[in-house]
Amino acid sequence: MDSPIEKSNRSSTTSKQMLIGLHLGNGYGSQQGAWRMPGVDPLSYTSFDAWVKQAQAAERGKFQFLFLPDGPGAVLADIGTESPAFNLDVMMTLAAVARETEYIGLVATGSTTFNEPFNLARQFKALDVMSHGRAGWNAITSSGDDVAANYGRAIPSSEERYGRAHEVVQLVQALWGSWGKHAWVHDQESGQFAKRDQIVPINLQGKYVDSRGPLYIPPSEQGQPIVFHAGGSPNAYELAGRFANAVIGAAFTIEDARAQRNAFREAAKRYGRDPDEIRYIPGLMTTIAKDRRTALDRRIQLTGSSLRQRVSYLQQMLGIPLDVSRIDEPLTTAQLGAARPSRYDPRSNHALNIAKEGWSVRDILAHGVIDYHPVIVGPGVEAADHMQEWFEAGAADGFWISPDVNEDGIDAFVDEVVPILQARGLFHQDYEGKTLREHLSAPDQYGIDPRV
Ligand SMILES: Cc1cc2nc3c(=O)[nH]c(=O)nc-3n(C[C@H](O)[C@H](O)[C@H](O)COP(=O)(O)O)c2cc1C
Repeated sequence: MDSPIEKSNRSSTTSKQMLIGLHLGNGYGSQQGAWRMPGVDPLSYTSFDAWVKQAQAAERGKFQFLFLPDGPGAVLADIGTESPAFNLDVMMTLAAVARETEYIGLVATGSTTFNEPFNLARQFKALDVMSHGRAGWNAITSSGDDVAANYGRAIPSSEERYGRAHEVVQLVQALWGSWGKHAWVHDQESGQFAKRDQIVPINLQGKYVDSRGPLYIPPSEQGQPIVFHAGGSPNAYELAGRFANAVIGAAFTIEDARAQRNAFREAAKRYGRDPDEIRYIPGLMTTIAKDRRTALDRRIQLTGSSLRQRVSYLQQMLGIPLDVSRIDEPLTTAQLGAARPSRYDPRSNHALNIAKEGWSVRDILAHGVIDYHPVIVGPGVEAADHMQEWFEAGAADGFWISPDVNEDGIDAFVDEVVPILQARGLFHQDYEGKTLREHLSAPDQYGIDPRV
């Protein structure tokens, strides 16, 4: 039998390779109980040292980028027992990380609804200069009235949010280009600091936003930051198709991921772009351990207080009553026969398949069947197989990885999954360059893309 590492003969020179990003959220990891795990510093939520260390672990694994989601002020289910999901301040964190890393891309979420374009343009280009061309802006419109309330507002309609988003991205890119690429002379002898005719106002006025400019920040090594987007609605396809070089996605099945990827690619074509300019990157959550049982036990330890809630959710997914007192028993033949996966939850079929393998209810839940992304709970080769299957099916150009616990989960991925992907020719051996644009093979762009 072939060893798992030799599963594919795919050659790194004949086909494109996948991208890998690391989800960097609250400093603990993606599972609710991560902050309480042995070995985890409970103060990681405010530890810039912890984020730097986690970023360095991802860079050791040659990840192309870090992804920091952000939903300023989204209300928590229970701060009494749960850590907040987001980072203290994504830009400050990335500024700290930029100084302690050399290659990895730095992608932060910035709302187009609750920021002025000038602020976004200035902060992201400053980060880009500071990091020598590694910044990316995940331009999203924000959702949720709890976020809007922090700005004294209600969440605008989708039409208004995306209308504003199209204008904001254009203005931001115009501001980035307003300091001409070759405008900075800094000649001490002649006394010429810059060519004033190449640093000019943009004077753009839209329906929602306007700005005069210029922005007094010269180009970085990659010119200007890379635009990302995250979303799955038709409006999201349109915004990303027009402006983005990468999409942070969420999909539970190959079919759904492929449909989303195609929708983004089609949208890019409508704007006269090459569809390969937009990379679709769905999420993957990981608990990597030497075998399935060890990984499941780790997940059980991580579940925290929400077990009862999860059992009741699993009942709805499977359409059968579940007895909490029999949580350590597998489903009976009668229960399996009566189960009807919910049409409203795309995870339900997978949950039923796991149940049919004979796992107890506790173990079914420990497989992550109600998590936000597909979950690998087992040895590294299972993650590599999942990634290979999706990548080769045209369902993904890469993955953003959410380890269960950052403290040791990033290293587990780097040591147990990355080498398999590299041996299969699916992932690069080393960074091709030093900028995020190079990591993504994104085309040169400075200022607005004249095609769109
Ligand atoms: C994978 C993924 C990641 C997202 N990350 C964020 C985020 O970090 N912050 C945020 O406010 N919204 C985030 N969103 C939400 C989107 O910005 C968007 O508001 C949401 O998908 C609703 O879609 P619509 O606005 O297109 O209707 C994310 C969405 C997806 C699919």
